[in-house]
Amino acid sequence: MGAWCRRDGPGTEVSTDQGKSTVITGASDGIGAARLAGRIDLYDLDHDRDFSPVRAYNAAKLENVLFTRELHRRYHARGVSAVAFHPGNLATSFGTRSQSGLMRFITTSPLIRPLLTTPEKGAGQLVWPAEGRPGVDWQSGEYYEKRKPAKRVNKQARDARLAREPWERLLG
Ligand SMILES: NC(=O)c1ccc[n+]([C@@H]2O[C@H](COP(=O)([O-])OP(=O)(O)OC[C@H]3O[C@@H](n4cnc5c(N)ncnc54)[C@H](OP(=O)(O)O)[C@@H]3O)[C@@H](O)[C@H]2O)c1
Repeated sequence: MGAWCRRDGPGTEVSTDQGKSTVITGASDGIGAARLAGRIDLYDLDHDRDFSPVRAYNAAKLENVLFTRELHRRYHARGVSAVAFHPGNLATSFGTRSQSGLMRFITTSPLIRPLLTTPEKGAGQLVWPAEGRPGVDWQSGEYYEKRKPAKRVNKQARDARLAREPWERLLG
């Protein structure tokens, strides 16, 4: 899932009854995942019927946004704040070993790679909510791009059932 947690109370894990916790999740609009291209099928969450690396990636990033919203809905009143962010399109190792030839081309092409953002700048997008104050600098349950609530978000990112059902299936 790629979540990062900060806890201001005692203990070693995200706690809902002691102190306050922050869960920060990396999402992506890189190829339109959280914006346009991501598509989640509740009846094929593992992509058994229709697998492609790019579709699976897009869905996973969109699921990170939904996870954030549902975590907020379930636990914010108990002290957990959750936020999702897009780090930018970064020149990391991301995509360089993808099964998708298009993805490998985009992420390794000497023409495209110099246009990507540095990993250090991308890390700044993570540091921002980590250092910031939930409810003041950012709002729990939201998805941010460049430190602002994302303007264009995939319709499915607002679908309460899509956010709720995977939790219910996992937790029974
Ligand atoms: N790069 C972008 O433009 C971008 C944009 C939006 C979101 N993101 C998200 O940011 C996150 C980090 O991506 P990145 O750009 O930093 O990619 P990256 O350079 O490929 O780094 C991925 C990291 O995850 C580790 N990893 C991969 N599979 C693992 C596994 N099964 N178990 C444990 N560790 C594993 C890798 O370890 P090894 O080095 O040992 O393989 C590596 O340290 C991803 O969730 C990605 O979707 C990236």
